[in-house]
Formats: sequence, C-alpha cells, structure tokens
Amino acid sequence: MKLIFATNNQHKAEEVKAVVNQSIEIITLKEAGINIDIPEPHDTLEANATEKSRTIYRLVKTDPGILGCFSEDTGLEVTALNGEPGVRSARYAGEGRSFDKNIEKLLQKLGDKGDKTARFRAVISLIINERETQFEGVCEGKIIDEKRGIQGFGYDPVFVPAGSHKTFGEMDLEEKKTFSHRTKATEKLVAFLNTIEP
Ligand code: IMP
Repeated sequence: MKLIFATNNQHKAEEVKAVVNQSIEIITLKEAGINIDIPEPHDTLEANATEKSRTIYRLVKTDPGILGCFSEDTGLEVTALNGEPGVRSARYAGEGRSFDKNIEKLLQKLGDKGDKTARFRAVISLIINERETQFEGVCEGKIIDEKRGIQGFGYDPVFVPAGSHKTFGEMDLEEKKTFSHRTKATEKLVAFLNTIEP
C-alpha cells in the first residue's frame, strides 16, 4: 500500500518511516515530485493537519497507485506559557522559521518560571477514499535552560522527555523513537491501516 506523506520535513519523514512496517510504502512530497509549501493558517493543530492532507489529497486522489495521503502537525505546549508556542511552534520567533531563534524566544519567555513542564503533541490527518481520520500522539517532558545535543530538529535540544535525562537533541533516531509523540501517533495510524483491506 502506497501513501503520500504530506511533508517537506526530512526529519519527520525519517521518524515516521522508522515506525511503519514494510507493507506500507511512505512517499514524501519530494519523492512524489510535488513541490508545494502547504499553508498552515489555522489556530489548531487539528485544522492545520486537515488543511495539509486535503491540499495534497486533491493532487493525488486520481492516481490509482496511491491509496491516500496523510499529514502531521506538531506543537510544543509549555504549561507555564499557557500552551505556547503550540500551533505557532514553527513560526514562534517569526516567519523565518529559525529553530535557533524559536528556542531563544522560548527560553527568554520561560525565564525563571518554576514550572518547566511541556509536551509535544502530534496530530496526524489521514485521508483515504475522501474520508479523514485523525490520530494523536503526546510526549510529556520538560524544557531545560540551555541547548544540549545536535541531533533531531526544532526544539529537540531543549526538550527532555519524561523517563530520560537526555534531550531529544542528544538522542539518535532509535532512542528518540522510544519516547516520541510522532511515534505514538504513527503507531495509531499503522494500527488503523492494518484494519483496512488491501
Ligand atoms: P510543524 O508540524 O511542521 O508545523 O512543526 C512545527 C514546529 O514544531 C517545527 O518547526 C519544530 O520547530 C517543532 N517540532 C515539531 N516536531 C518536533 C520534534 O519532534 N522535535 C522538536 N521540535 C519539533
């Protein structure tokens, strides 16, 4: 079964591909030859995930070799900041989408607040035969004051998942996978796909 993953983020694609089994072939936008910057105009992860999967579904739905498509939208929700940056995680410090500037702004806003707890929340939107289904994955953890590690992307260097002493930035793909919000959402996606007749 072939599914388009509506993302231009190579890190996300690698993380998702590491979770799905071989009976599901994941094709990224680049691999499908689709060059598009998908808008994320809404104020919830759910609505943005739907926007992304619908946009790509319209382009691929007539291809008989493709079963459907899915997208994934993630936000970092920091308790002491009332869930910020949340749906604005990618553009927290501006349209440049700079990982470093986003982290800088986050650490500055968090300052010396006592509660450093945060969670990553991933929402996957799958569309097959015009029908959408969503899957959520959450990873609880905390924000630390200084960046540690160079692996992964986004806020990984300042996020320590519950149950570890390392940041995501200090973990390789396999280790991040054991904690990741994206793994949890993808596992639900795979379980759902396994219920569909080939
Ligand atoms: P989006 O889902 O592509 O809109 O991602 C929003 C932003 O959240 C990204 O630009 C990253 O900064 C951040 N982000 C998403 N997933 C992760 C992750 O697994 N680790 C660290 N940051 C992430």
